Amino acid sequence: MNITQRPRRLRRDGIRSLVSEVSLSPSDLIAPVFVDATTDERQPIPSMPGHERVPVEEAVARVEEVRETGVEAVIVFGIPEEKDARGTRAFADDGVVQRAVRAITAETDAYVITDVCMCEYTDHGHCGVLTSEASESWEELRSSGVIEEDADEEPTLTVKNDETLDLLTKTAVSHAAAGADMVAPSSMTDGMVGAIRTGLDDSGHADVPIMSYAAKYESAFYGPFRDAADGAPAFGDRRHYQMDPANAREAMREVSLDVEQGADVLMVKPALPYLDVVSAVRREFDHPVAAYNVSGEYAMLHAAAEKGWLDLEAVAHESLLSIKRAGADLILTYFAEDLAPRL
Ligand code: PBG
Repeated sequence: MNITQRPRRLRRDGIRSLVSEVSLSPSDLIAPVFVDATTDERQPIPSMPGHERVPVEEAVARVEEVRETGVEAVIVFGIPEEKDARGTRAFADDGVVQRAVRAITAETDAYVITDVCMCEYTDHGHCGVLTSEASESWEELRSSGVIEEDADEEPTLTVKNDETLDLLTKTAVSHAAAGADMVAPSSMTDGMVGAIRTGLDDSGHADVPIMSYAAKYESAFYGPFRDAADGAPAFGDRRHYQMDPANAREAMREVSLDVEQGADVLMVKPALPYLDVVSAVRREFDHPVAAYNVSGEYAMLHAAAEKGWLDLEAVAHESLLSIKRAGADLILTYFAEDLAPRL
């Protein structure tokens, strides 16, 4: 036998790790944390085994649990005590995220990122305002005819892009004022990164970086998160503002717009069904690239493992490794705490 090329030579124990192209480390991972102003007890999230919504008083303890696993960064999501048409609790000084972030930054060394969006705070569940009028609730808007109704009695959805920018900016600034180390706008509002950058700079937060959800797709994989954060749209869907899953070239445009507006870290979301996009962003830009391994990607592996069809730890590790291999530097994942101690 004269086989000159034998790739198997480098697959033996002892050499495998020396020649591995990528590896995972706890410092690559960001753990999502849900803080809920409507509860005074920890509430398990049924579709996301191992995850909970915690009251503000438990936020520090929750983050300490994350830190003990070796994960250093968290992204905080909030469920407000009440919702209205304009999502005003998103930018309240005593809002759920603002209170939690103050406590977490005062009492832990975690790197604290905040999700900046309106959908958990609006009563209609969309990621922005539906009209420039200040009304108490979207039903009021609907009955007053501000939101048109079509033949099917479904209100025509028009999330007002430019009117939403101001609310996102106020939200990001209030997070920074509460001590957030980084803000992550996720509403797919055109111009959001530039507006937030200006707002942060003008309020003395020039050092707070922006991780933009730059290429965020209108994905069915967000289902479990919407249960967890109570952020499902009350009507319609998000296809008029989030990206069409068919489009990859458009993601490059979206990402360059955010780069021009001053984004520091570029995120692709979801991760596994969009690894082509992660790898294209990695090739085209020199910024750090983040990928969000979303709730549905987590839930489906858990569901299969529960049936005994997959080995959870192995498939979770392989999933995150593939995201790294595609080019992500940072991974937001619900597996962070479970995997970190084993890396
Ligand atoms: C918007 C937001 C969403 C997620 C993160 N930020 C939901 C959405 O766009 O519907 C989804 C994350 C996940 O599914 O894990 N605030």
